[in-house]
Amino acid sequence: MEINSDRLWTRLMALGEIGVRDNGGVTRFSFTKDERRAKDLVIAYMKEAGLTVREDAIGNIIGRREGTDSKASVILTGSHIDTVPDGGKFDGALGVLSSIEALQRMQELEVQTIRPIEVIAFTDEEGSRFGFGMIGSRAIAGTLRHEDLEHQDEQHISIAEAMRAAGFAPERIGEAAKPTHEVNAYVELHIEQGKVLENHNQPVALVTGIAGPLWQQFTLTGQAGHAGATPMNMRRDPMQAVADILSYIYREAKQFTNAVATVGKFRIVPGGVNIIPGQVQFSLDLRDIDESARDLLETRIGDYVSQVCKKYDIEFQIDLLQRVAPAPCSTDIQEAIAHAGRIAGLSNLPYVVSGAGHDGMQFSSSWPIGMIFVRSQEGISHSPEEWSSQDDCGVGTEVLYHTLLQLANG
Ligand code: GLV
Ligand code: MN
Ligand code: MN
Repeated sequence: MEINSDRLWTRLMALGEIGVRDNGGVTRFSFTKDERRAKDLVIAYMKEAGLTVREDAIGNIIGRREGTDSKASVILTGSHIDTVPDGGKFDGALGVLSSIEALQRMQELEVQTIRPIEVIAFTDEEGSRFGFGMIGSRAIAGTLRHEDLEHQDEQHISIAEAMRAAGFAPERIGEAAKPTHEVNAYVELHIEQGKVLENHNQPVALVTGIAGPLWQQFTLTGQAGHAGATPMNMRRDPMQAVADILSYIYREAKQFTNAVATVGKFRIVPGGVNIIPGQVQFSLDLRDIDESARDLLETRIGDYVSQVCKKYDIEFQIDLLQRVAPAPCSTDIQEAIAHAGRIAGLSNLPYVVSGAGHDGMQFSSSWPIGMIFVRSQEGISHSPEEWSSQDDCGVGTEVLYHTLLQLANG
């Protein structure tokens, strides 16, 4: 093996200590002190790898290794270092650290490439803090708009305000955009976050495409009242509508072949045992690799909400948090990954679709993208129990190393 899996593992465990809670879960939201500490550690690793490091206007950390052709467009690689609440040590972190490891080995083995390679630790892929993700990759793609920075966290702090507090200038986000001609390709290693590889008894897969997440927030407003003194037929209880809506969402999503629907956040106002709720808010995450199927499900749910709210005399509002199109992976990069797999001793890498979203989605209309997946134990992710073995992380990184060499010499 070319790469140093012990070094990779030591770094992965060290990064996983930042923001760790008593239950073993890691919480690193963007523009917080823990995220800053994680970024500083990544900067130190990039420097050890001999990379030239800079931080762009949105806080992406970029480590660059020069190629022999100073005019050649760059190969981008990397992932994110923010996490969901109570997340794991691998989601995002493995992609960043495996990229650094691959470049550090090139440096140690004095391997030259024609194209430069840049490792990026992206700012806020998860969207956990502001309900709006892939902030760093949108900025690099040039699609992050100033109004996007108005998204707020639960304390009503906007992205722009959080940026300012962390020492960034929100008015300068445009400076993070990379001109299309300066980039040749983007490739990311990530944990699978599903069970396909485990079921196939394979450590690594290549990804053919990424399903597109659509996030909405539903606000249903009725009339708060006394739980004991208000007869059932005299209530405008938004929870009654929500109960019907949730069963519709789950029932309807199952009618689709690949669609998935998740209600992961829920808020009852004012929230008391003896109070009929005045308002209920919940999030909806809809995904499908087929955008028209996802959008059809969205329309059906919207129509149903309108019908049910009318029935119960409830006002409703549906806010769009983010709508990301599904992203196909480049067949050229898939071939490069398959070839890299053979060099690493994996003759037939399985092909999988990514249900989870990734930063590369923001690039797929500008640059060819590719992804390598590493087996997740029991398919668990976005959980303190998220785990991939050192061997699997090592062999995935080996595949990334050989993929990067091909892309950077192509
Ligand atoms: C990110 O992990 C997402 O797919 O929501
Ligand atoms: Mn991730
Ligand atoms: Mn994630």
